Amino acid sequence: MIVAIDGPSGAGKSTVAKAVAKELGFSCLDTGAMYRAIAWQALHNGVSLDDEAALGEIARTYDIAFGHVEGDPVPKRVFIGDAEVTDAIRTAEIDRAVSPTSAAPSVRAALLEQQRRIGNAGNYVVEGRDIGTVVFPDAAVKVFLTASDEERAHRRVRQNVDRGIGSIDYEEVLADLRRRDAADSSRATAPLRAAEDAVQIDSTSHYIEEVIDQICALAREKM
Ligand code: DC
Repeated sequence: MIVAIDGPSGAGKSTVAKAVAKELGFSCLDTGAMYRAIAWQALHNGVSLDDEAALGEIARTYDIAFGHVEGDPVPKRVFIGDAEVTDAIRTAEIDRAVSPTSAAPSVRAALLEQQRRIGNAGNYVVEGRDIGTVVFPDAAVKVFLTASDEERAHRRVRQNVDRGIGSIDYEEVLADLRRRDAADSSRATAPLRAAEDAVQIDSTSHYIEEVIDQICALAREKM
């Protein structure tokens, strides 16, 4: 069974997806981390971000894997090839590099295949931008999670403070988030949009726990 959670950056997808997976006893797949890992590998290999063919080659040849921190059932460690990139994919540099990387059709085709293979192996909460529309159009539950731009920017600043990485300048974070939303929504292949049959949830004025409970209830109806 698949629970698909899509939405713009900073809407709370990761927190919600991980909590829902824990609550339901499902596995959890962060597809954004996969695009980030490819962007990291491209920068590492000195590949130009407008070299579509070379980006696709990376996505087809490097293995992406997830790992657990001991005692935590949700996989939070990310590996590409032989490198652990858990923290390295959360920098501002990768935030910028991931839009052109994820717009490359050859990258999307390679990752789509991997995402379907992983998700079809069990019960999964899968978070991303095109999960309900493209990757798992038959998902049992589809959620499109949003929040106001300002709220998302505030959350991202707090997250960066906690992690000790990324910008903590609110205006800069807000501008970057809007730029990334525009790129994600306007790209030709698998743009960010809600599936017609997705349940839209605005997390701006709801406690995150309410959002988690609502999604768990939707999933239990289908179990
Ligand atoms: O969710 P995130 O911020 O970690 O995602 C990183 C980037 O990857 C973001 O710019 C959008 C892109 N992405 C995508 O195009 N499709 C997905 N399924 C997931 C993420």
